[in-house]
Amino acid sequence: MTTKPTEKRSRFEPEPMPRRDFLGLAALASMAAAFFVSMFGMLKLPKAAVSASPAKKFSVALPDALPVGEAFVPPGRSVAVFRDGEGVFAISTVCTHLGCIVKPNANGFECPCHGSGFSKDGSVTKGPAPKPLPWLKVSKGGSGFVIDEEATVKTGTKV
Ligand code: FES
Repeated sequence: MTTKPTEKRSRFEPEPMPRRDFLGLAALASMAAAFFVSMFGMLKLPKAAVSASPAKKFSVALPDALPVGEAFVPPGRSVAVFRDGEGVFAISTVCTHLGCIVKPNANGFECPCHGSGFSKDGSVTKGPAPKPLPWLKVSKGGSGFVIDEEATVKTGTKV
C-alpha cells in the first residue's frame, strides 16, 4: 500500500470542499433564498389589494330639474332614483341574470351583457333575466333622501 505524500498547504489556500458538503450548502442556500422571497411576499399580504366598498346606505340630493320618470344615477352607485307625482323611489341597476349593471333608457332598462330588458318599474320584458330589478328602501334624510342598497321594498313603494 502506497501513501500519498502529504502536501503542505498554505493557510491562505482553502481545503478543497467535498462534493457532498458543497451540495448540502447549496441546498441550504436555496432554502434560505426561498424563505426570504416568501417572507417578502408575506409582508405585502396585510395590505388590502382592493379598496373597501362604499357604504351601502347613502344620501342623495336629487337635482331640482330632474324630469318626472327620468332616472338619476348617483355617481359610483348601482341605483337609479326616480321622482314622479307620487314620490321618490329607487331601483337597483344590478341585473338579476348575472349581475351586470343595467343602463336606463327611454323604455326602462337594458342590460349590456346578455340583452335583458326591464320596464320602468323593473319588471322583466326580455330574458334571460329571471327576476325583476328590486326596488330599494328610500327614506327622507341627509341632504335629501337616504337609499339603502341592502334593503329591498315592495315594488311600487314610494316616499
Ligand atoms: S347579466 Fe344582464 S342579461 Fe346577463
